[in-house]
Amino acid sequence: MAAGGGEEERRPQFGSRLLHDGNDVFKHNAWDDVEWDDERETEARRAVEENSSMFLSREQRDDYEQNSAHYWDKFYEQHQNKFFKDRHWLFTEFSELTVKENDARKEIKFFEVGCGAGNTVFPILRTNCGGDDDDANLFVYCCDVSKEAVDLVTSHAEYDSRRCAAFVADVADESTPFPFPESSLDVVILIFVLSAICPEKMRRVVARLARHLKVGGRILFRDYGRYDLAQLRFKPGRCLSAHFYARGDGTRVYFFTREEVREIFCECGAGLVEEQNLVDRRLIVNRGKRLTMYRVWIQAKFRKT
Ligand SMILES: C[S@@+](CC[C@H](N)C(=O)[O-])C[C@H]1O[C@@H](n2cnc3c(N)ncnc32)[C@H](O)[C@@H]1O
Repeated sequence: MAAGGGEEERRPQFGSRLLHDGNDVFKHNAWDDVEWDDERETEARRAVEENSSMFLSREQRDDYEQNSAHYWDKFYEQHQNKFFKDRHWLFTEFSELTVKENDARKEIKFFEVGCGAGNTVFPILRTNCGGDDDDANLFVYCCDVSKEAVDLVTSHAEYDSRRCAAFVADVADESTPFPFPESSLDVVILIFVLSAICPEKMRRVVARLARHLKVGGRILFRDYGRYDLAQLRFKPGRCLSAHFYARGDGTRVYFFTREEVREIFCECGAGLVEEQNLVDRRLIVNRGKRLTMYRVWIQAKFRKT
């Protein structure tokens, strides 16, 4: 199963295409805000109980934790920039990523954590390239634990060091400094990255990021939701701890509920308040093969007070 929802595509804002009549299911490629009946919920619980009935050994868990950069490096060595698609939905879901022409702030700074091959960074730079003023206005930092990923970003034809700085960092390792001071960022972007970090470390990661936000700055979050198809497809023997799994290639993934996301961000002790926190339940349809896939993502926004 895909690491990071690579199958998402350009779309109108969440919640706008609703399936009212089950007979229409194969008329479109995707349906928003899909209701789950009791049977589907029970089946999902059963699948998760089964695939998490046994946890990997302490040694295996330590290996995935200590060598996570290595496993992500292998992932990017293999897939290069072919795996994830550009995140075009970014601008419909997160209007904060479009710098307004009349924005009076002189220096707007974004920071993307877990930038991968740049599928978020480059659309942001493109979208905000409205002229000389904008170029001077917005600066985008991005980091990834994988050097291979950062190399893909810095060698990209659109990489411009006047507008962007990509660097290698494990965001969970507080001894690795960031190249910007605390209270200096307008937006922190977490797209399918917190799920790759060990759950015990998530709050500290979020607290650290929040300290680097200006008052009024925001963290934008989108990630895997509980009982997403990717979670149900794991076979027994891949579970690290509750709802946290290692894929066959050694990369890891956690599946969140809204309540957990709220706790991680609002109770991290860094003054974040919730502005949005929704479950995006989508039915993806393969019309050719007459297949249906139930995807679940969580999307949230938090503001620093
Ligand atoms: C599922 S991929 C998503 C990539 C990108 N955000 C996207 O949506 O296309 C997760 C990314 O997070 C990076 N990552 C995982 N753990 C990290 C950490 N502790 N610090 C920084 N980056 C990390 C991985 O190398 C990988 O590029």
